[in-house]
Amino acid sequence: MCGIIGYIGGKNCVPILIEGLKRLEYRGYDSAGVGLIENNTPVVIKKKGRVAELENKISKLKIDSSVGIAHTRWATHGEPNEVNAHPHVNKDSTIFLVHNGIIENFNELRTDLQNKGFEFRSETDSEVLVQLIDFFMGKDVSLFDAVRYAMNMVKGTYGIAIASTHVPEKIIVARKGSPLVIGLGNGENFIASDVNAIISYTSSIVYLDDGEIACVQKDSFEVKNIDDELIEKEIQQVKISIDSISKGNYAHFMLKEIMEQPVSVKNSFRGRLLFEEGSSKLGGLQGFETRIANSNRILICACGTSWHAGLVAEYMIEQYAGIPVEVEYASEFRYRNPIITADDTCIFISQSGETADTLAAMKEAKRRGALVLGVCNVVGSSIARESHAGVYIHAGPEIGVASTKAFTSQLVVLALITILIARTKHLSLVDGQNILRELDKIPSKIQQILDNHAKIEKIAEEFIDSKNFLYLGRGYNFPVALEGALKLKEISYIHAEGYPAAEMKHGPIALIDKNMPAVFISPVDSVYEKVLSNIEEVKARKGRIIAIATEDDNYIDKIVDYVIKVPNTIRMLMPILTVIPLQLLAYHIAVKKGLNVDQPRNLAKSVTVE
Ligand code: M6R
Repeated sequence: MCGIIGYIGGKNCVPILIEGLKRLEYRGYDSAGVGLIENNTPVVIKKKGRVAELENKISKLKIDSSVGIAHTRWATHGEPNEVNAHPHVNKDSTIFLVHNGIIENFNELRTDLQNKGFEFRSETDSEVLVQLIDFFMGKDVSLFDAVRYAMNMVKGTYGIAIASTHVPEKIIVARKGSPLVIGLGNGENFIASDVNAIISYTSSIVYLDDGEIACVQKDSFEVKNIDDELIEKEIQQVKISIDSISKGNYAHFMLKEIMEQPVSVKNSFRGRLLFEEGSSKLGGLQGFETRIANSNRILICACGTSWHAGLVAEYMIEQYAGIPVEVEYASEFRYRNPIITADDTCIFISQSGETADTLAAMKEAKRRGALVLGVCNVVGSSIARESHAGVYIHAGPEIGVASTKAFTSQLVVLALITILIARTKHLSLVDGQNILRELDKIPSKIQQILDNHAKIEKIAEEFIDSKNFLYLGRGYNFPVALEGALKLKEISYIHAEGYPAAEMKHGPIALIDKNMPAVFISPVDSVYEKVLSNIEEVKARKGRIIAIATEDDNYIDKIVDYVIKVPNTIRMLMPILTVIPLQLLAYHIAVKKGLNVDQPRNLAKSVTVE
């Protein structure tokens, strides 16, 4: 979950590292540090808190260094403080290391090294790596080999970068389970845990795979495996515009990303709608259509918001393609003994494509013979690369920790997958065409909701002192209730629960009183009348009700306290519209509470540890 960046070349790397850390801050933001080599002297500077504080500290020192590594941390082992911040160094500060991941056998290794006389300063698992490398270098092996030997001994996950005054012309990087890329420049090279950190300098990217180790110099790089065999790597040209990773005129990335949805959703289906055939074109699934359509069962695995998108897909696929679907938390799937056969298709949904639990669940399903598909946003991410086939959602970089535009784009892509499968089964041409026509209208309908922004902001004002919230919906809108509750709790720290509306009577109704706001997602659909009854039940107990309703529903205005209207569409696409007011509601409540919505406490954008 931490962010890593490094530079080796002819320029002063301090501003490059700081800018990169700022771009990576969404991955972890409790402390940050840099390790530099200046005139062959090691310089390590760390600071608890945000990158801006580290920047402040460094700016007073006037350092000029053309090789350095840097890190922004999301604490796993050891509280966030300067000692536990990275880089970690060996005893004479000649080797420094930054790490993303978890070393599971660090205790055992640490005891062993302590018995050999090594002294540890921090409480982290990461420090063991630098001490281990120091130990091997003491046996007169090169830095590269010392890293390789250390990799052989550690259990767990890592993306690491190491620099040393012994070999100031090299940075060594290695990966197992945590992403690392090399960015190639002219007389300079970069390393990073995330392409976004270096995209303003280069678009020529080499993705390291698990078990690989690379030596990066200013004019060259070399990748080997753990057995010291040379590996030929492909250089990929990655296109990410700087605008897409900047806040522009918006106060927060989250707001920018909410507002971008008419465009991001369109990008998700651009060139993929086959109106004449009433079907979709998904290049990434080419050749796999029949196998998917003939699956006995579809299993969807994901975490957080992506899991909610999976729940919506369950309704879509079962309704239109008639294939049984199960949706699982990736973290649960990987630790039971799942019954998976070669006749199953498993879909792994992940914005980042790096979520450790989702990646591990995917590897398990693959091992058991299933067809594994990835639905990812980040191009070249681990899940995208390790799946048999898949579809990118093309939402563009999502920086805000709370996922917004990725969710709506995931729903679009899952709808396209549904249509593709359903058209090989029972879905008629006319019905397929109707879904496509409705999908084509979604961006302008989202815009209509966004144009109502001021009203949602006003409603938010009324709820900033609430301590709890209930979100209730049925059918396709039950996952939206879960998503609305997740958005609110993660950025406003208000406790919120999502429930299927009818389940309220089985327990949560006990919570209803005049202090309990209940958000009903209640478009006019097949369960509308039932949801109205649930609304009456809350009303009878004096709960305050906000309804997300369809524009032609005038009745609901009379029975609830606040109504936010959304345009009408077919049921399967309704979640793409009903979630938008919930994103805005959560955003405005959090902002009015004075909270940092882009970097909520304790969270990180992509959870690369289990
Ligand atoms: O990158 P992924 O989609 O795999 O991430 C999954 C969750 O960590 C993510 O959706 C998380 O729940 C977000 N903070 C939700 O806003």
